[in-house]
Amino acid sequence: MTMKSKEIAKVRKVAEIFGQNRDLILDKWIRLVKEENIITSESELGYYKNGFQKLVDDFAHYLKNDDFEGYYRENSELAKEIAYNDISYPKFVEAFHLFEDSYSDLLVKYIPGDELLSCMGAIDKLHHTTISRVSQAYFEINDVTVFALAKLAELRDPETGYHLERTREYSVILAGELGCPPDFVANIYKVGPLHDIGKVGIPDRVLLKPAALTEEEYDEMKKHPVIGTDVILSIIADHQLSRGYLLMARDIILHHHEKYDGSGYPCGLKGEDIPLSARIFSIVDAYDAIVSKRPYKPALPHEEALRRIKKDSGTHFDPVVVEAFLRIHEKLHETYDRYKQDFKFGVKIR
Ligand SMILES: [Fe+2]
Ligand SMILES: [Fe+2]
Repeated sequence: MTMKSKEIAKVRKVAEIFGQNRDLILDKWIRLVKEENIITSESELGYYKNGFQKLVDDFAHYLKNDDFEGYYRENSELAKEIAYNDISYPKFVEAFHLFEDSYSDLLVKYIPGDELLSCMGAIDKLHHTTISRVSQAYFEINDVTVFALAKLAELRDPETGYHLERTREYSVILAGELGCPPDFVANIYKVGPLHDIGKVGIPDRVLLKPAALTEEEYDEMKKHPVIGTDVILSIIADHQLSRGYLLMARDIILHHHEKYDGSGYPCGLKGEDIPLSARIFSIVDAYDAIVSKRPYKPALPHEEALRRIKKDSGTHFDPVVVEAFLRIHEKLHETYDRYKQDFKFGVKIR
């Protein structure tokens, strides 16, 4: 939501009033939060006092110079504080809503009656943007937690080297090309890295074996989709989830080794019975495996990956997804190369 120049002038005016009356606003805000019983513990209240103070100070400081981006940036920092300190997010939003009540009488006092309504309107708009930006920053931290979990599982896996970072980026490109809706694309980015999380349950002698697996060992390895799914299923059952990213996580974890002709594992699903997210992920997973070096094989050229994926269209892979893959394959190649350039010795250098 962008501000019109008239609204910007109003916000600037309010910022000046905030600067001059900061302590008055803060005291009233804290009083209201206490009255409404939003925060009951003293230690949490101390945290809120600091947070509120920063909000009011940032408002006065940035917005008296029309620096909206600066203001939102500081708000996002605050959101990270909330997430890192495990502060309840709904409570924070509730407390934030009381902010308005803590300064409204000041506006009545300082702003002429004919301007008051438009001023309140401009501030209201600003608050909505603030809440949405803060939410975004807050939830990004939760997303990072999901990814950290996947990275942890990957530590035991010889398939390291930014495989998770690359495959999640490939999957976003491929899902976009297939015309998947934005929330599908956002979810695949979030949960794709969990695909092999069940490998934590595979014994070292199998997972880390530097040579080809025996049939019996391979059978053991093939349990990883089910091991990973069990964990997710218990969360889904406990919370009675019928939608959302954990359902996609289940689909990808359980079905990323299914094959289009039904010869895959663990369920032997066929064609479109395999969830689309898993059909997408199996291609990007295979692509990355082919072009990457693994303990048991060298890195093969991009063209070889194209050739193999094309050859397996309709048997291993969904032909529609393969077609989309062939339209955007250069973007995947670029992504692969970018990770080679950006990372040196495991540290991001850009
Ligand atoms: Fe796997
Ligand atoms: Fe993988």
